[in-house]
Amino acid sequence: MTITQINPKIGLASRLVNTILAIEPLAKFAKTRARNMMIKRAESIGVPWRENVKKLGDRNWEREIAAVENRQLQYPDYYLTSFHAYETGNLSWKAAWEVESAAYAVHAKIWSEGDIQGDSQLRQSYHQILQEQLKIEPDSILDLGCGVGMSSFALQEIYPQAEITGVDLSPYFLAVAKYRAREKAKPVNWVHAAAESTGLPSASFDLVSACLMFHELPQTAAKEILIEARRLLRPGGYFAIMDMNPRSLIFQKMPPFVLTLLKSTEPYLDQYFTLDIKSALIEAGFSNPNITVNSPRHRTIVTRVIGKL
Ligand SMILES: C[S@@+](CC[C@H](N)C(=O)[O-])C[C@H]1O[C@@H](n2cnc3c(N)ncnc32)[C@H](O)[C@@H]1O
Repeated sequence: MTITQINPKIGLASRLVNTILAIEPLAKFAKTRARNMMIKRAESIGVPWRENVKKLGDRNWEREIAAVENRQLQYPDYYLTSFHAYETGNLSWKAAWEVESAAYAVHAKIWSEGDIQGDSQLRQSYHQILQEQLKIEPDSILDLGCGVGMSSFALQEIYPQAEITGVDLSPYFLAVAKYRAREKAKPVNWVHAAAESTGLPSASFDLVSACLMFHELPQTAAKEILIEARRLLRPGGYFAIMDMNPRSLIFQKMPPFVLTLLKSTEPYLDQYFTLDIKSALIEAGFSNPNITVNSPRHRTIVTRVIGKL
């Protein structure tokens, strides 16, 4: 189903939630509550959250972090804030060790009452759209905001011939990605950089994919990343974004309490929900962005580069 893009206003309930979250103790309470609910949900669907974290926490990460970290990197200010109930956001080992279990928990109820397969179903629904809409088999793929590699490895499965590069701002996430990649047949090139200035060569990718990254961005950064994606793509290449669908009735009708918990862990959600992504893509030099609903709460945008830079 293709949807029309209109710019949803921040509703009354959402503004009320913002007022609540501006009060520090209430924000803290909401974050703790959101986090505990996530751990409980993960363990109820058979994800051994605490055991997974302990296993990862018990190993020595010096080799992986040294291999991926760019110590000269200047982090953008918006990234140095609390995300997902971690005070230092994505810049911590704890976040890196927990993120995979968290993804299973967050995606468990997309299609059912709670199922560990929800996460892989979500990625499959995205890839089905890619396979239907891309008129090429990409040989070089860039995964922006690759995290611990879940989206990169999923892309590797459907495009096994492709060279894959994963970019992320968290060296902790990239270290875990590098560790997880040891079981894979083909290496991934992990790059510690901001998606808005990757330092990678122009016109060097057939597909740039951003899976579940844009909801973590303020609008200024989101727009800069669209321009960077345009620069990195070859003529005829594709840019694809899969993320929450601001038009989904699930978000529009979300009870204020649940919305409070969600917003307490996602600082730029209002900016993401109100970005006119179609216009921003066209302004960045893309043409005819196509938006397709791929889950009850996610959408996929696919757009192609026509002509040279
Ligand atoms: C929700 S995670 C998604 C991870 C992965 N793509 C997946 O599908 O599981 C969002 C990721 O985007 C990264 N990120 C956020 N802003 C970024 C930026 N400006 N540049 C690079 N990575 C960024 C975060 O560090 C995090 O790893």
